[in-house]
Amino acid sequence: MTETVRAQYEAFPYPERKPTDERKRLITGSPSLPVEMDHWLWGGARDWSQPLKALVAGGGTGDALIQLAQKLTDAGRSYDITYLDLSQASRRIAEKRAEVRKLSGITFVTGSLLDAGDYGPFDYIDCCGVLHHLPDPQAGFNALAGALKPDGGIGLMVYAPHGRSGVYPLQDAFNVLLQDLPPEKQLKAAKRIFDRLPDAHPFKRNQRLVDHKNGDAGFYDLLLHSQDRPYSITELWAALSAAGLDYAGAPEPQLYDPAPLLDDVPDMERCARMQLAEDLRGTFKTHVAYARHKGQVIAPPMWQADAIPHLRDLDAKALATHLTKGKGLTIDTSGEAFHFEIPAQAAALVERVDGTRKVAEIAPSLEERDVWNMVEAALCSSGMMHYSGILAKGE
Ligand SMILES: C[S@@+](CC[C@H](N)C(=O)[O-])C[C@H]1O[C@@H](n2cnc3c(N)ncnc32)[C@H](O)[C@@H]1O
Repeated sequence: MTETVRAQYEAFPYPERKPTDERKRLITGSPSLPVEMDHWLWGGARDWSQPLKALVAGGGTGDALIQLAQKLTDAGRSYDITYLDLSQASRRIAEKRAEVRKLSGITFVTGSLLDAGDYGPFDYIDCCGVLHHLPDPQAGFNALAGALKPDGGIGLMVYAPHGRSGVYPLQDAFNVLLQDLPPEKQLKAAKRIFDRLPDAHPFKRNQRLVDHKNGDAGFYDLLLHSQDRPYSITELWAALSAAGLDYAGAPEPQLYDPAPLLDDVPDMERCARMQLAEDLRGTFKTHVAYARHKGQVIAPPMWQADAIPHLRDLDAKALATHLTKGKGLTIDTSGEAFHFEIPAQAAALVERVDGTRKVAEIAPSLEERDVWNMVEAALCSSGMMHYSGILAKGE
């Protein structure tokens, strides 16, 4: 990290968090939800009797760290998590958040993710919103790959270009004008200029960007960053590949499918097809991806009787009530509605999902299994259902 970037995260730890808020809510998101990790990295079949040795690389004020540690604690699973970040101010906030929640099993380290190998090897590495800020991002990809166990997995987020339209011209202009000022003065000056920008500026037209409205750290991170490059999905695949990794999946895979937007999808390689979806949709601000060592990717356990489903952010009863109406399911993801025809019989099946029952118990007959497959297609492609044995008894 350059001195300028370090000064930014010391002055404005990101994201802005108040440790005492941990008493009232848990912030969740992708990557690094244990059931989602299991689904995409270990075929829903990780042996959770083994402790998870994890690294949160560039952990910031601790969102992924707190989520991972809290979810594993709630599931009664053991872990050993290393938090690594160059910013001491961010670390202090992350430490305080863990303290408020009385989470143990965490080692806090102030240091560079380029040295990740010194603390591993790891079963899992989270690296969210960091690699695109490194002076040499590929060195970061390589360092994380080098710190991963042979059967380990990474969950990462990097910026994507199209959904950030308007950001880069403003970053360039603010850097030219303000780079010699200390961070607090840059912020003040940039806000004054920002208020005078024309409404037609692509940034002001871009309704998908909200970080600048979420406090000073958000404004700074979005518009005053001195080191920030986006990745198209093709570039991300290439960076992973150069680090000896393979792309293992995305939390909302349907977004990478161009089919709903086309009469016919041309015959093409998987990555080119995903690129087509990114270019046609034009809305991706980020890519969230899971990755494993080359040749080690395990597909999620779709259509498998012994897989155990978990609903994400959905109440099984409420979903069942909705499905009883027989109108299927419309899922709005990133401003685009995806409709799935699902028969009303699905309601009874969905009600049986409790994180411990297998598909075979939820949908025992062949007829029920057909209906279940429709539920699975809809919810798994939208990131609303994952397979994992994390709550399975006796393991
Ligand atoms: C945009 S914040 C993301 C924080 C957190 N991962 C999240 O998503 O909420 C980027 C973080 O990466 C850290 N960082 C930047 N370069 C780093 C490096 N080489 N090693 C470790 N941390 C780094 C910064 O200090 C900052 O806390």
